[in-house]
Amino acid sequence: MITYYENERLFKLDTPNTSYLIGIVDEENFVGHIYYGKRLLDAEASYLLRTQELPYVPSKNNRERGAFYDTFPFEYPTGGVGDYRESCLSIRTESGHAGSMLSYVSHEIMAGKPGLAGLPATFGSDKECETLKLVCEDVYVGMQVELLYTAFSDVDVITRSVRVVNKGKEPFYLTKVYSACLDMDNRDYDMITLHGSWARERHIQRKPLGYGIQRTSSFRGESSHQEHPFLALVDRHTTQEQGEVYAMNFVYSGNFCAQAEVSQFDFVRMSMGIHQENFCWKLSPGEDFQAPEVVMVYTDQGLDAMTGTFHSLYRKHLLQGKYKDKKRPILINNWEATYFDFDTKKLLAIAREASALGIEMLVMDDGWFGNRSFDGCALGDWFVNEEKIDGGLAHLVEEVNKLGMKFGIWFEPEMISPDSALYREHPDWAIAIPGRPGTQSRQQYVLDLSRKEVVDCIYGMMSAVLRSANIEYVKWDMNRQLTDIGSAALPPDRQGELYHRYVIAVYEMQNRLIHDFPDLLLENCSGGGARFDPGMLYYSPQIWCSDDADAVERLAIQEGTALLYPLSTMGAHVSDCPNHIVGRVTPFHTRAAVALAGTFGYELDVTKIAREEREEIPRQVALYHKYNDLVREGAYYRIASYSQNHHYDCWQVVSEDKRESLVTFVQVMTRANHKSRRILLKGLDEKRRYRIYVEGQKPEREDGELVYSGDTLMKAGILVPDMLGDFQAKLIHLVAEESEKKGQVE
Ligand code: GLA
Repeated sequence: MITYYENERLFKLDTPNTSYLIGIVDEENFVGHIYYGKRLLDAEASYLLRTQELPYVPSKNNRERGAFYDTFPFEYPTGGVGDYRESCLSIRTESGHAGSMLSYVSHEIMAGKPGLAGLPATFGSDKECETLKLVCEDVYVGMQVELLYTAFSDVDVITRSVRVVNKGKEPFYLTKVYSACLDMDNRDYDMITLHGSWARERHIQRKPLGYGIQRTSSFRGESSHQEHPFLALVDRHTTQEQGEVYAMNFVYSGNFCAQAEVSQFDFVRMSMGIHQENFCWKLSPGEDFQAPEVVMVYTDQGLDAMTGTFHSLYRKHLLQGKYKDKKRPILINNWEATYFDFDTKKLLAIAREASALGIEMLVMDDGWFGNRSFDGCALGDWFVNEEKIDGGLAHLVEEVNKLGMKFGIWFEPEMISPDSALYREHPDWAIAIPGRPGTQSRQQYVLDLSRKEVVDCIYGMMSAVLRSANIEYVKWDMNRQLTDIGSAALPPDRQGELYHRYVIAVYEMQNRLIHDFPDLLLENCSGGGARFDPGMLYYSPQIWCSDDADAVERLAIQEGTALLYPLSTMGAHVSDCPNHIVGRVTPFHTRAAVALAGTFGYELDVTKIAREEREEIPRQVALYHKYNDLVREGAYYRIASYSQNHHYDCWQVVSEDKRESLVTFVQVMTRANHKSRRILLKGLDEKRRYRIYVEGQKPEREDGELVYSGDTLMKAGILVPDMLGDFQAKLIHLVAEESEKKGQVE
């Protein structure tokens, strides 16, 4: 709900448990941030703007205008006229000047949530959310800035975005446009970010916030393996279960910057937006720029509550398409099984064996097109290599379909190999700085998607392949980051637009794909998980989490990913051992227990693995069918983190009606001479009594397993006996007693 208090010149945005207050002050109509936190019953907090304290507002003390600018909590701070904290908006006029300051002009409160032109964004019906548009201006520049805020009524989320319009007579340049800012008092915060590397994505990092600027960012052209477009400031005492959290997540897949700055007065400015590096957007008179959306979450109930809020928002208000709430087919991908060395015969042999074991889809990975026999050539030549795929693609797909399996295919549409027919014909289609040798990465260049003819050509080839056979799944990969930012088509004063134009073009292509092929299951991927972000989730309900499918490495990767994103979005497979990335050997059942917390599938040659492992697959398939509804739709709780305790990992999912729960316990390192371990469960109904089963273990008692109340299980916990050997896993199933009697849970 959004209310405007006319006398107080104040806006109050309410979600079920939070409030956000904005005030307009002084004759010059500065827009100030008053409050964000627990829901307030009234709107009487404008004293927090400190306009009664020195240096006062400019109308009372123009002598210290600079000091006012440098202390006032701005909703959307600009730079160059006295606020020395990090700004959200920087401009340069034709004459080369940079200063700007915004004043409130008008506002509009509307039901629902408008879309953002060309960009992914969360959505909601008129009943589920309300939007405030605050229109501000800088008359000297001729610039109008619209600040958009949406408050949801079913989740504790406020989203923000910004649109800048040139209302003047001269062009000007945007050299920085962030999307959201929160000016607050510091309360001894810690800062949580996600960092990593290839095969090691999204590890959680928490550190105390100090004076100055602390930042997490990417200017690699994608959200990246290394950092993540997420930032949380939490009270130093915040835990999973309690404490304050302010979180921001960017619905964008390109360069980003998220930062917190503690100022001289112990104020904190938290902000997020497109990274400034090599960003310069020209706005001619009448043109506008739409900045992407930031999702903001506040809770005083700890990190579990933050996670729950992000999961609910993304499930309900971001994911789209036929598969968003549906069980996904269990796939087998041939990448780690064959790499580039495959043909129709080999694929069909894998498919035959896989279908007999209950696997539902074959995905043909990299290597089926052009003359691609290794990773150094043919990207851009999206036509089937009939030497490998003898008999043609349609034949292969038909044969796979005859086995009762679906068929999926891999593309890397954004790339071009120097050794490709496409590059030989169009060398200027690669992103490059004229006259400078381009930096190759994986022996490839990135296509200049800011050019319509490039997008149309690639999309044309892709869609022709997709129409040529019954293809029901696409893995859209992106295997290198951007360098040598230059477009042969953009004029000099628009070269700084390339990074963002590139991202918009990727969105446009994916939008076309999901509309032209509405039944397709799209999985995004970027050298594993370098583009796992809410922007991509708007187009694909699942994203390959990491090229590292080792069961132990995945614990930290999936823990960090699940901090924000529902388990249904996390691409996770059982892969071969010794693991291809780290060389570790883990039991087959442990690999499955970890992959069951994601989309689930296989990435190995089923015709070559040990017989005992092959025989275990139908049991794992059955577990997937038994638990996937719960995993996909249930509330997720973090119980213990191997990254922190170095012994074991544990997470839990609970069905919405709290009648059923699955606890996954992974003992990474075993210990000598140990006792069982006590873990406290979460999210259960304290009044219900739950029967406890351990997968693969016969009930200890004739009349079934032990029964305890949710109250006891959450307060006193359960005991998990230590297991012999490293890398062991247990799946513990809790079923509410009366559900069993009524047959509601098998
Ligand atoms: C990336 C992906 C892998 C695989 C290879 C193919 O690394 O993450 O899963 O598709 O590309 O080249």
